[in-house]
Amino acid sequence: PEEVRVYEFAEKAGKSVADVIKVLFNLGMMATKNDFLDKETIEILAEEFGLEIKVKDVLEELDYVSAYDAIEDDYLEERPPVITIMGHVDHGKTSLLDFIRHSKIAEREAGGITQHIGAYMIQKDGKKITFIDTPGHEAFTEMRARGTQATDIAIIVVAADDGVKPQTVEAVNHAKNADIPMIVAVNKIDKPDANPDLVKSQMAELGITPSEWGGEYEFVNVSAKTGEGVDELLDTILLQAELMELKANPKREAKAVVIESSLEKGRGPVATVIVKNGTLKVGDHVVCGVAYGRARAIIDDMGKMVKTRTPSEPGMVVGLDKVPPAGEIMIAVKDAETARMYAERRAEYERQKELSKTTKVTLEELSQLV
Ligand code: GTP
Ligand code: MG
Repeated sequence: PEEVRVYEFAEKAGKSVADVIKVLFNLGMMATKNDFLDKETIEILAEEFGLEIKVKDVLEELDYVSAYDAIEDDYLEERPPVITIMGHVDHGKTSLLDFIRHSKIAEREAGGITQHIGAYMIQKDGKKITFIDTPGHEAFTEMRARGTQATDIAIIVVAADDGVKPQTVEAVNHAKNADIPMIVAVNKIDKPDANPDLVKSQMAELGITPSEWGGEYEFVNVSAKTGEGVDELLDTILLQAELMELKANPKREAKAVVIESSLEKGRGPVATVIVKNGTLKVGDHVVCGVAYGRARAIIDDMGKMVKTRTPSEPGMVVGLDKVPPAGEIMIAVKDAETARMYAERRAEYERQKELSKTTKVTLEELSQLV
């Protein structure tokens, strides 16, 4: 999102507002001087006027303020993959994750507190993997908000006794649109009426051809009930992740994405985030859209207080002044003043954007301006 309005563009371009509106009008766009211009339109205008123009969102600008940027490459380290589990309702997404968690994190505190947090981290042969479970019934829009920004690989869970269903197709399309690699977990293989070959042919019809049939997709038969195939699924994930060479710089200021948020009794606004870059620390001043504050506490997926979260690690951040929406980016800044300033600027930006959206273009206004 950009912050440039028609008159600001005109000022910056050294043109009259009328000229800019005329050009927009000729391009089939009705605009008034206070309307915001999107990136594409600005590019077209710039070309029209023979100008070179760069625009930035306030937070985008922030995102790049890091002393490490110039030497970033020297600090890049391997990071764990972030996996989103998607699929049709009741096909066993949560059960699969439950099996993986109970069998793989046994070393950690037993009787782990049930936390309603959408992201979990596990270890397999010393390698970490972060999972995001997506609820079957929830509107797909929210899942998209969580998924596209934070996910490296999608696991499409298809029940072998039920086959490809509408939400399976949706999940596949979502991963395709986001350009995320997919691994298919054919679940409930323990059931007597399981028909994994039917699932394969149904998926192939969607263009998801199994590698054993000459396609590029890995299919793994699993059972969340017996645990059959789960190890193989984890190995397949780690192999795919290795090919992707996922990296981040744990030394820089944290940048994280909100996958879930709520207002909690005694805690106030909380945001479950996955760190995309940098290290998030307790005490960090953060800005998260129009929300800001200090990370007073960070709680991991087992309900344990932790001091830091490194790239790909999930954590619940306590200390924001408001509840940020899922999909929002959280950025650590140097002090409280900076955090407040960016949150306020962002709020003002959103107010203006909203205002310009509701502004009606009247013929009078047009004739006055053009
Ligand atoms: P939503 O989150 O509602 O979309 O469902 P889900 O995909 O998370 O399914 P969930 O894990 O809740 O499982 C649905 C039902 O299938 C439960 O009754 C599970 O016990 C059962 N189930 C899941 N996996 C298996 C499996 O591998 N074998 C058998 N026999 N049952 C399974
Ligand atoms: Mg579930």
